Amino acid sequence: MTPNDGRLTGKVALITGAARGLGAQMARRFRDEGATPIITDLSEADCRTLADELGGDAYALDVTDSAAVTEVFAKVAANHGRLDILVNNAGISGMEDRPEEVQRGYDITMTQMADSMAGNPPSVFNDVTLRTTDDEWHRVLAVHLDGTFFCTREAMRIMGPQQAGTIINLGSIMGTSGGAGAAAYCAAKAGILGLTRSHALEFVAQGIRVNAIAPGWIETAMTDALGPMKPLISMQTPMGRMGDADDIAWAAVYLASDEAKFVTGQVLSPNGGWTMSQ
Ligand SMILES: NC(=O)c1ccc[n+]([C@@H]2O[C@H](COP(=O)([O-])OP(=O)(O)OC[C@H]3O[C@@H](n4cnc5c(N)ncnc54)[C@H](O)[C@@H]3O)[C@@H](O)[C@H]2O)c1
Repeated sequence: MTPNDGRLTGKVALITGAARGLGAQMARRFRDEGATPIITDLSEADCRTLADELGGDAYALDVTDSAAVTEVFAKVAANHGRLDILVNNAGISGMEDRPEEVQRGYDITMTQMADSMAGNPPSVFNDVTLRTTDDEWHRVLAVHLDGTFFCTREAMRIMGPQQAGTIINLGSIMGTSGGAGAAAYCAAKAGILGLTRSHALEFVAQGIRVNAIAPGWIETAMTDALGPMKPLISMQTPMGRMGDADDIAWAAVYLASDEAKFVTGQVLSPNGGWTMSQ
C-alpha cells in the first residue's frame, strides 16, 4: 500500500512516547496508511532517528511539562495548520528503576502458588506499597494522567476549531483488573479510562472521537523489565503468548480511521483473551 491510498491519507498524527515500543509501531503503521507522523518522546535524538526513517517531524516532549506541551502543539499548528490524530501513548510502569521489587513480586507469587497448591494459607505477602515513596507514586500518575490531560487540552485547541479529529488514549488491562504490586500504574490506567469517557462526551458535539486501547501484555522494553515474570504471563494468557507491537498498532489504525466513525468513548483491548470485559 502506498501513502496515497491508505486509511489515513493526508492526516497529521502526533504520538507521545513514540521513539520506541508501541508508539513507534503506531507511527510506522500510520505512515504506511498515508499519515504524517509527528514523533515525540523524552529524547529528541531518538525521535529524530525514527522521524528520519518515516519522514515526519520530531520533538522532544516530556508530557508532564505543561508549558512544553503547549509549545510543541503550537509548533504543530504553525507547521501543519491542523492535527487529525493524537495518541496519548507515553507511559512508565513505575518499576523501571526497581528490579528488586520485580524479583520480589515474582518470588511472592511463586510462593503463594505453591502454598495454595499444597492446601496451605499464604505464607508471604505483597507489600510493595509500603516501600513506595510519594515521588514514585506521583511520577506514575503524572506521566499517565497529567500527560494525557495536558496533551488532550492542547490538541483540542487545534481539533476544536477544525470540528474534526480523533484521540486515542493508552489504557491497560491493569486499569480494570488491577494488579498486586502495581497500585499507581493501575490507578493511573483506570483514570485514563475515566478521562477517555469524559472527553468523548465533552467533545462529541464538535465531531471529535475519543477512545482507549487497553493492551494486554505486549513485548516491549516496558515488559522486558518484568524478566522472570514473562513465562508465567505467557502461560496465563489464553492465547499462550504475549502480544507484539503490531497487535496494538492495528487497533490504533482502526480507531484513528473513518472506519471507526461511529465509535467513541470505547475501550478496545487486544489482550490474547486475558480478560474479556473492559
Ligand atoms: N507493553 C505492554 O505490555 C503494555 C500494556 C498495557 C499498556 N501499555 C501502555 O502502552 C504505552 C506504551 O508502552 P510501551 O510498552 O511501548 O513502553 P516503552 O517503555 O517501550 O515506551 C514508552 C515510551 O514512553 C516514553 N516516556 C516515558 N515517560 C515519558 C514522559 N514523561 N514524556 C514523554 N514520553 C515519555 C519513554 O521514553 C518510551 O519511549 C504506555 O502507556 C504503557 O503503559 C503497555
